[in-house]
Amino acid sequence: MHETLERWSTRRAFILAVTGAAVGLGNIWRFPYITGENGGAAFLVLYVAFVLLLGLPVMMAEIMIGRAGRRSPMQSLGHLAARSGASRHWRWLGLFGAATVFCILSFYSVVSGWSIEFLVAAINGDFRGASAADIGAGFDAFLADPARLTFNHSLFLAMTLLVVAAGVAKGLERLNNLLMPLLYLLLVLLAGYAATTEGFGVALGWLFLPDFSALTPLVVMHAMGHAFFTLAVGACALMAYGAYMPDHQSLPRAVGAVAVLDVAVALLAGIAIFSVVFSQGLDPGEGPGLMFVTLPIAFAELPWGALWLSVFFLLLLLATWTSSINLAEPMVATLQGWGLRRGLATAVVGVAVWSLGMLSVFSFSSLAETRVLFGMNPFELVSTIPPEVFLPLGGLLIAIFAAWVMPEEAARYALDVGPGGFRLWRGVVRWVAIPLTLVVLVAGLS
Ligand code: TRP
Repeated sequence: MHETLERWSTRRAFILAVTGAAVGLGNIWRFPYITGENGGAAFLVLYVAFVLLLGLPVMMAEIMIGRAGRRSPMQSLGHLAARSGASRHWRWLGLFGAATVFCILSFYSVVSGWSIEFLVAAINGDFRGASAADIGAGFDAFLADPARLTFNHSLFLAMTLLVVAAGVAKGLERLNNLLMPLLYLLLVLLAGYAATTEGFGVALGWLFLPDFSALTPLVVMHAMGHAFFTLAVGACALMAYGAYMPDHQSLPRAVGAVAVLDVAVALLAGIAIFSVVFSQGLDPGEGPGLMFVTLPIAFAELPWGALWLSVFFLLLLLATWTSSINLAEPMVATLQGWGLRRGLATAVVGVAVWSLGMLSVFSFSSLAETRVLFGMNPFELVSTIPPEVFLPLGGLLIAIFAAWVMPEEAARYALDVGPGGFRLWRGVVRWVAIPLTLVVLVAGLS
C-alpha cells in the first residue's frame, strides 16, 4: 500500500477537521455530567491537567505517526515499525483503535439521536411553558421508548455513514467552516444568560473552587479517560486524519489551538448547565440526562427561547456529526486496507455499529437492570470502559511507539518543530505522559 496523496486543502481545514473531531458530545454532554457525578472543581482541575500533560503531547504523537506514515493507521504503524527495525506487530495497535471507536460510536450514535429528537421537539415548541419537572418527566418517557430511540439512532448513523462513504476530507471541510464559529457564539450567549441567573455564583464556586479531599484513584482515572475522550486521542482516529495533513504546518501549534477551543467549549457548557442546575435546585449528579433536562429549562426563560433552543440542538447535532465521522473513519480505513471497497466497508461498519448500539437503546428500558460486567448495564459499560480504559491504553502504546520506536528523523520531520521543541516534546512524552498514564491506569483499575 502506497502513501495517500489526499490532503486537507488548507492548514485551516486541518485544524477545523481536528476541532470537529474533538468538539462534540464529550464537551457538551459528557463533561458536565461526569463532572457532576465526580464532585465538581477538583475533577475539573484534574481534567485540565490531563489535557495539558497527557492529552496534548499524545495527540501530537498520534497525528505525527499518521503524517509520517501517510497511510491507514494499521499500515502507517507497520510501515514505520519496519523502517526502524521494530516488530511489525505494532500494526495491531491500529486494530485495537478500531475496536475502541467501534464501542464508542455505538453509544455515541444513540445519544446523538437524542439531539435529533430534541431538535424536532424544540422546533415544534414542545418545551414552551414547560416546568423543570415536566421536562424531566418527558425525557424519562422518551428514554423508556425503544422505538423512538431506535429511529433516531438509525437516522444519525445513516447521516454519519453517508459522509464517510463519500470520503472524509471534502464533505467535512464545508461542514466545519460554518459550524464551529456558530457553536461558539451560541455557547457564549448561553453562558452570558447563565450569568444573570441566581445559580450562577454557586455554579462558579462549585466548578472552580476545588476540594481535593474527595479524590480517589477512580475519580483520577475518570478524569484521565475524559481528557483522552474529549480530545479524540487514543484510538488512532486522529492518526487517520494526520495522514492528510499538509506539509509545512507546525503540528504543536495546530494541536494547541484545538485543545484551547475544546476546553473552552466544555467550560462554557459547564457554566451554563450548572447555573441552571443550581438555580432550579436540580442534582448535579443526575447522570447522562443532565444536559437534556437543564438546557431546555434555561432556554425556556430566554426571549425567543424556542428558536434559540432549536439552533442549539441543530449545532450540537452538527458537532456530534463531525465527531462521529471521525469515529467511523478508522474502522472504514482498516477494512479498506484489507481490500474492501469504501462503500462496502462503510456498510459493514454501519451494520455492526447499529447492532451494538441497540444494546444501548434497550439499556434505558428492558436491559436497564441487566448487569453485564462490573455491575453496569450495556450502555454504562460501553460508555465507561472504552473511553476510560481502552483510550488511555491505546494512548500509552501510541506514545511509546512515537517516542521510543519510530525512526527519530521521521518523527522530527512530521512534528515540524525546531530541535529544541522536538526534545521538549519527546522528554514530556517519555518521562511524564507515559509514566503518568501507567500509574493512573494501574491505580484506577486495582
Ligand atoms: N472527542 C469527541 C467528543 O468529545 C468524541 C470523539 C471523536 C472521539 N473522535 C474520537 C473519542 C476518537 C475517542 C476517539 O465528543
